[in-house]
Amino acid sequence: MSEPAQCPFHARALPGDGTPLSPSPRLAQWRAQAAFMPLDFQDGHEGLVATRYEAAIDVLQDPRFSMRPARMPVGPNAADDPAAAETSAVPLEAPGELDDAGQQSEEFNLLTLDGEEHAKLRRAVTARFSLRQARMRQPWIHEMVVAQIEALRASGPVVDIWRDYAQPIAARTHCHVIGVPEARYERFVELFVGVSTAQQKYDFIRGLIEERRTDPGEDVITDLLHDTDLSRVEIEGLLRLLLGAGRDSVAYLIATATVALLINPDQLSALRADPERVTGAVEEFMRTGAMFVTLFARTAREDVVIDGVPIAAGTSVAVSPVSANRDPAQWGDRPDDVDVSRDAFGHLGFGQGIHGCIGQQVARVEIREGIGALITAFPDLELIEAEQLSPMPFAHPVAVYEAGAVIVRLGGATTAV
Ligand code: HEM
Repeated sequence: MSEPAQCPFHARALPGDGTPLSPSPRLAQWRAQAAFMPLDFQDGHEGLVATRYEAAIDVLQDPRFSMRPARMPVGPNAADDPAAAETSAVPLEAPGELDDAGQQSEEFNLLTLDGEEHAKLRRAVTARFSLRQARMRQPWIHEMVVAQIEALRASGPVVDIWRDYAQPIAARTHCHVIGVPEARYERFVELFVGVSTAQQKYDFIRGLIEERRTDPGEDVITDLLHDTDLSRVEIEGLLRLLLGAGRDSVAYLIATATVALLINPDQLSALRADPERVTGAVEEFMRTGAMFVTLFARTAREDVVIDGVPIAAGTSVAVSPVSANRDPAQWGDRPDDVDVSRDAFGHLGFGQGIHGCIGQQVARVEIREGIGALITAFPDLELIEAEQLSPMPFAHPVAVYEAGAVIVRLGGATTAV
């Protein structure tokens, strides 16, 4: 039976010298060394990080790991980057966050719950995020994306794809699916994309609930109001989680996929020549542009052996999608290449298992429509600069790469989408 690899300097922090499209070489070294490596966690205790694909899947699918207590591994920039620590734009709400309305959002954060407690809340929202629902939303998303393309044309020739294109696509779809009416879109952006207090967020949520009660729609809020298993507090808590979750991640992926294509012109040409390939290419963008350096840490409830490695009860284990998504044992001998013809299904960009991403089907449609329309509309699209080509601090408290400005020149020729 093998042991988790021991480092001569003992546990270590996540390396901060990588970028989303070019992760730190240290992750590859760790992966070559062992399936589980020692890792320093935020509160100073030591745990493990799963670096290889098989080990990562095995942890995510194993009910002997609990989401609580959830502890965050942190990269090297944590201590010296107070600005990052205050960011409001974490992709999912941080477990354990005690908000200033005096309510603990942890209570409704699916990523801090196990077993039936988790299943009950998750069941309440999964139907609205199904594959069928995502397909039904596609025409609406397409029309909205076309409007964003027109807005880009009007504001060009130089634009920021992150701010001017990816963010509005993600925020508008989020509102549409959850049930925030158009008249409240600007306020939603102010509160949930910008910085606001928990009290302001809850006031907004209560307003939405009253509105949907008298004017029901095909959306998450209406579903929650019809769910007789849920209390009012649970509905408000779930909405607080959902309104904050995922939107930033979708925008991040659209921006990162744009950069990936513009620095890999052969791949861009392949997609332009065969737009049908965009659907599969989304999986490759998710694999090579995964934003989660580590997922929310799991804790072993009992002594377990995973892939021959003993893990003692109480050990925190973080899974690294960025590392697992580039494991040559799973993805072949050129795992770092972006190859839009690759079958990348099975990547860990959306996690896996019972906590796998709820919003993944609608996210796929948004990324597909967003990228497809952009590369079709602007055949001369050209990258000027992208912040995410340089190392930057991880967002906190979860170890995720942050999106940054993606400045492009739209070019002269434009095509209808
Ligand atoms: C490209 C976009 C997205 C990415 C990369 C992403 C990524 C992830 C990942 C990796 C997890 C699992 C975390 C873990 O196991 O520790 C997750 C869970 C989750 N995601 Fe997403 N997400 C995206 C979009 C969305 C959207 C649009 C929503 C909609 C509200 C959403 C809602 C959630 C929720 C509620 C969970 C928790 C599920 C549970 O614990 O049962 N995500 N996401």
